[in-house]
Amino acid sequence: MSTEKKTPASGEAQEDILICRCQEVTESEIVAAIRDGARTVDGVKRRTRAGMGLCQSKTCGRLIQRIIARETGQNPADILPQKSRMPVRPVKIGSFESEADDA
Ligand code: FES
Repeated sequence: MSTEKKTPASGEAQEDILICRCQEVTESEIVAAIRDGARTVDGVKRRTRAGMGLCQSKTCGRLIQRIIARETGQNPADILPQKSRMPVRPVKIGSFESEADDA
């Protein structure tokens, strides 16, 4: 895949920018997702995996909001952030046992 894109204003090729470092999603991939119909950060996430990385969009979420706003002509404040979910981690059943013994 090429990492170059054409900017509409200048027509000159420029290097693509990595927006989501955790999932290695570039700006051009996010723009393609928006042109495919994504209008929310979650919509972009479903199409590109941007925001699904270790930082859970703490780094890339605002950048994605701004790209959506720019591409759709909306105010960035009107673009909802990604829905946050509780982190899910495996827990050993024995850790519940010790809590029950204390009660
Ligand atoms: S930079 Fe996008 S999930 Fe971490």
